[in-house]
Amino acid sequence: MEERKGFKSTFGFLMAAVGSAVGLGNIWGFPNKMGSNGGFAFLLVYLVLAVVCGYIVMVGELAIGRKTGKSAIATYQTLSKKFKWLGWLATLSPFLILSFYCALGGYCIKYIVLNVGNLFGAAFGTNGLSGGEIFEAFMLNQTEGVVFGIIFLLITMFIVMGGVSGGIEKFCSVGMPALAVMLVVIIIRSCTLPGAVEGLKFMFVPNFAPLKENFLGVLATAGGQMFFSLSLGMGVMITYGSYLDKQKDITKNALVIVIFDTLVALMAGLAVLPAAFALDPGGKIGGPSLLFVTLQNVFDSMGGIGAVFGIIFYLLVTLAAVSSSISLLEVIVTHFCDKATEKGKGDKRKIYSVIAAAAAGVLCVLVCLDGLGYSGYWVPGRVLVDGAWQYTAMYNDCWLDFFDMLSEGIMMPLGALLMCLMIGYEIGPDVVRDEVEKSGGKMKTYGFFKICVRFITPLLMVMVLIGQIKDFFL
Ligand code: TRP
Repeated sequence: MEERKGFKSTFGFLMAAVGSAVGLGNIWGFPNKMGSNGGFAFLLVYLVLAVVCGYIVMVGELAIGRKTGKSAIATYQTLSKKFKWLGWLATLSPFLILSFYCALGGYCIKYIVLNVGNLFGAAFGTNGLSGGEIFEAFMLNQTEGVVFGIIFLLITMFIVMGGVSGGIEKFCSVGMPALAVMLVVIIIRSCTLPGAVEGLKFMFVPNFAPLKENFLGVLATAGGQMFFSLSLGMGVMITYGSYLDKQKDITKNALVIVIFDTLVALMAGLAVLPAAFALDPGGKIGGPSLLFVTLQNVFDSMGGIGAVFGIIFYLLVTLAAVSSSISLLEVIVTHFCDKATEKGKGDKRKIYSVIAAAAAGVLCVLVCLDGLGYSGYWVPGRVLVDGAWQYTAMYNDCWLDFFDMLSEGIMMPLGALLMCLMIGYEIGPDVVRDEVEKSGGKMKTYGFFKICVRFITPLLMVMVLIGQIKDFFL
């Protein structure tokens, strides 16, 4: 049998895993959710969840993936009798996420172009329109939405075609450090704007009131965000783990991924929130417009140099998004490549990358056409009554919301919950310990891992699920 080609170096693996974790969830989702869920209180809950759920599920996923050395589907089939089917859930969900991920990634590319236009005073710049006007016009332009979404999807596809070390590892090893540098540049600009202090206060001055008002709500939002941000509950870390060799230390790598992902989320908060407070004091902090309306206004208000910051910022977001979308596509592609290799046909990576991207592309086109609901299409949960939308069973404004609800809100916490139950009660946490200890040395966090995986993590995940479901249905 042909050998399965994995990551070449620990650094490359880390950059790929951090690249998967760091994405729109950090730069778009985190500041938004923090903005609309009470700032500091949200941050606090998020940090606790990252340690007792995120880290635990991360170690579990990496370990079972490396143990079998197979795709998510095959991993569950090999390890479990009761949860054989779980790999399918973990492979289906990336399709849903990819659909809106590519649409949003496309928006970021559009905004790079827009700011390049501004730099040269070209017709494809903002032409004196406000951020809100530009965004609305873009959302209403369905052709443009689809074209940019597909460009993003094609970039993703070509990198995955290059393979794990030749495509993914190479891209992330350069892209991630570049992203960190650009982020620092934007933070310095954002935090030195007059009035930025208000944003910093919002993030870091302790305020527990939101927890008293709506604890379950904050917990559920922070929980969903945490799973999404760390790329958990969806087969990504199982897949990346399967390409990791036995000498690498799983617990240490998992910790580094969690820490970096959280750091970048915080840094994104520092880049986005102070600027939003400075420019729009008293305005609504949060919502999808933060990245594409508020920030564009910030760049426009800086004069000529603003276009340069705009280009840097949207380039950074695009980089982060690509390094995540490749991990999503890879989950699907790995499964089919493994199958083909087993049959002795070679891995056929190129063909499968194209097929998987095309399948994801269908849903992506739907999300792009919908343009965050601007098109006025029908969305599950919403009906037209006398010319006005009314919500019936669910509160969905657009297809992006709907796919996000299914994946981030339900499938991910559910997938991670069932994985914990499998590890905790069916195969036993010592399977994970044995795998971790293959790299030599003891698993120092085993005691903590065992208690969490059996009791604390599942309990919190049930609460997250209940909170999310309550949020979605009227
Ligand atoms: N973690 C990425 C983000 O923060 C998104 C992502 C990539 C993801 N791969 C995933 C989410 C797998 C869940 C599962 O934007």
